[in-house]
Amino acid sequence: RRYQKGVKQLCADGISRVPNKYVWPVQERPVNDKLNSSKAKLVNLPVIDFAELQGPNRPEALKSLAKACEQYGFFQLVNHSIPSEVISSMVEVSKRFFELPYEERARYMSSNMFAPVRYGTSFNQNKDKVLCWRDFLKLTCHPLPDVLPHWPSSPTDMRELAVTYAKEAKHLFLKLTEAVLDSLAVRLMRDQIMSEFEDGSQLMVVNCYPQCPEPDLTLGMPPHSDYGFLTLLLQDQVQGLQIQHKDEWHTVQPIPDALIINVGDHLEIFSNGRYKSVLHRVTVNSTKSRISVASLHSLPSKCTVRPLPELIDDEVSPKQYMDTDFASFLAYISSCEPKKKNFLESRK
Ligand code: SIN
Ligand code: FE2
Repeated sequence: RRYQKGVKQLCADGISRVPNKYVWPVQERPVNDKLNSSKAKLVNLPVIDFAELQGPNRPEALKSLAKACEQYGFFQLVNHSIPSEVISSMVEVSKRFFELPYEERARYMSSNMFAPVRYGTSFNQNKDKVLCWRDFLKLTCHPLPDVLPHWPSSPTDMRELAVTYAKEAKHLFLKLTEAVLDSLAVRLMRDQIMSEFEDGSQLMVVNCYPQCPEPDLTLGMPPHSDYGFLTLLLQDQVQGLQIQHKDEWHTVQPIPDALIINVGDHLEIFSNGRYKSVLHRVTVNSTKSRISVASLHSLPSKCTVRPLPELIDDEVSPKQYMDTDFASFLAYISSCEPKKKNFLESRK
């Protein structure tokens, strides 16, 4: 199979219209979506203050965290302790990566889903009937010493800056997971779960959504939910991310220096349905190119994905999802249409 060249290269070739293979069916386009008769509303996501979570106000902050995960499945995290130069360098080196000559980026193309580094375009090139206005670089981050030598060697400072960010993201993920466990009142299994996550998987997805001459015809990413436990999303200040909330699409307003955190399918299952893995998508625009970096965290692949036994109660909260091994769980969710979220409920 020949690889698609991607949208960055398409733009470099000079286009004034969106090619047909990127044109989405009318009812799925950003403005005509039936969930979205007018322009999507702006949403102010719940804001969680990480410093509060780590301080004497932790009990209150945990309540806000629980509410955000139940009602939105998304929140903005401020005072998260990742130095702002680590964040800005990660965004900036990502931009420089996508500005490399096409041949340089294309060296990292691979059809192997498990390659430690993978450059590509659209959402799932092997399955997409309509393509998405997005190019990406996926970096496996675990175990770092094994994968690092495969990461891009140009820009020359990319490895160093991306490793620094990946380590900070992992550390923050572990702190957030402790907070999530405490917010769910997990006690018996807390230590065991934390040690599993310390050795868990981490995938960094660097997304580039170039300016698009006809943004109303296409999408940067289709409606989907994330498979992992938590996703930490770093974005530049360009709008694009939309989440489904109360059956409508809402555009997330970026807050400078904040990270966006969302609940993934695995946490929805783990919490026995209390926390929600919410559908989201990305729209593009005609004036600004957009960069985002998603850090997806989950368990080691040898672990079982299941509702935590201590969160199941036959009367108050009966078991909602079956147990699976991680590999079957991944195979199952990747066989589903991205927007079919009901698969989780069908797995009881
Ligand atoms: C994602 O859903 O993984 C990326 C979202 C974004 O680019 O804002
Ligand atoms: Fe996502």
